[in-house]
Amino acid sequence: MPTSDSVRIAPADGKLGILIPGIGAVSTTFMAGVEAVKRGLGVPVGSLTQLATIRLGKRTDNRTPYIRDFVPLAKLDGLVFGGWDIFEDTAYEAAANARVLEPSLLEKVREPLDAIRPMKAVFDSEYVRRINGPNVKQTGSKMDKAEMLMEDIRNFKSTSGADRLVMIWCASTEVFHRPAPVHATLKDFECGLMKNDPEIAPSQIYAYAALKSGVPFANGAPNLTTDAPALLELARDREIPICGKDFKTGQTFMKTLLAPGLKARMLGMSGWFSTNILGNRDGEVLEDPGSFKTKEETKLSVLEQILQPHLYPELYKNLYHAVRINYYPPRGDAKEGWDNIDIFGWLGYPMQIKIDFLCRDSILAAPLVLDLVLFLDLAQRAGLKGIQEWLSFYFKGPMTAPGLYPEHDIFIQLMKLKNTLRWMRGEDMITHLGLDYYD
Ligand SMILES: NC(=O)c1ccc[n+]([C@@H]2O[C@H](COP(=O)([O-])OP(=O)(O)OC[C@H]3O[C@@H](n4cnc5c(N)ncnc54)[C@H](O)[C@@H]3O)[C@@H](O)[C@H]2O)c1
Repeated sequence: MPTSDSVRIAPADGKLGILIPGIGAVSTTFMAGVEAVKRGLGVPVGSLTQLATIRLGKRTDNRTPYIRDFVPLAKLDGLVFGGWDIFEDTAYEAAANARVLEPSLLEKVREPLDAIRPMKAVFDSEYVRRINGPNVKQTGSKMDKAEMLMEDIRNFKSTSGADRLVMIWCASTEVFHRPAPVHATLKDFECGLMKNDPEIAPSQIYAYAALKSGVPFANGAPNLTTDAPALLELARDREIPICGKDFKTGQTFMKTLLAPGLKARMLGMSGWFSTNILGNRDGEVLEDPGSFKTKEETKLSVLEQILQPHLYPELYKNLYHAVRINYYPPRGDAKEGWDNIDIFGWLGYPMQIKIDFLCRDSILAAPLVLDLVLFLDLAQRAGLKGIQEWLSFYFKGPMTAPGLYPEHDIFIQLMKLKNTLRWMRGEDMITHLGLDYYD
């Protein structure tokens, strides 16, 4: 039971509208999946909000409610979807093209997916180079485009009957950019929007439109987007929760499972070579060196931050870490990722670990999208604002306060997530000390 110390959380009444830039493989697998689960055609495997429990109090208390019963989350029946894409395909057509889900399953959820027609995108081929499409806002400055997006948001809210909204970026990975002077303050950023500053990426225009409209924003790709002082300032000023970056699925998910385990035992590591083949549109965009560089940055930083070579130089100082992604159309969304890990033990004796993960990218990403939109909506109703570090669990490159290194160990991330939920409901934190069981 919540105590008087619990956080006030507004109820999750009415509909939650989910706005998605990028009606591609991940977003359509998510939307089709939600529709399938609503109809009893599948189980939301991989989703904490739908399947996980949370332990409360002592182990002897036997209190382990479902997370969905412990905190007030929007129900799947109350979710409505909208989005933008540079292609005009409906969500049904985009899902069929992505070839992630079986045609027989897609047919059963065709009606709601066919009704999702992407709004005209804000697109810039300097930021995503390998694709081009007709469904794009053509005229006006970047500020005009932000205003058009805000109008799209208002229209979607009124036509869908949504009471609250959340936006999640599921569009292609943009080319690598570092924060520039135009990202320094909100004033600089707004000036840059009016002057069409080339350093402002489309994803930042969407994020700006969302935050100005009071809509929480999550970034599923590794682009800079909200990880810039101007947009952080806007999120804080408007009291809107944000999170990112880059869904933690596939190979990096494996890394964050294994690396903390090896480090926990103080085993050394001299090399980690990761390579992938994938054949979906994401793979095609990542063929571009600019987009790959953005991805590479989040993928490479993970090991460095888990292993902390500055604290353990004799174990990790000479680690050679490389990540490759190869576009290979025959595999479609069914990616294959190989890892060769060179480790060493007692007295430096070498050993090797090989992983061959035949995964399905969008199948792994869809439940993350669901959890993120439900938790961001919860955060908003609980009055949390700015970066939501407790959602690091879902990201390869978790956003943190400036100057704070991110926590990449997935089990620490999970503990942080669950403790945040306990804190919201006024329950005791769980430290796993457990001495009192032996008194
Ligand atoms: N699937 C995973 O496991 C995974 C993991 C981490 C990150 N991601 C990221 O999630 C994103 C989506 O992945 P996906 O497999 O669905 O890719 P996808 O190529 O199937 O879909 C992306 C869609 O975004 C559209 N798009 C591009 N720029 C746009 C813009 N400015 N506005 C609106 N739409 C735009 C494209 O036309 C495309 O339909 C990618 O950035 C990917 O890197 C995916």
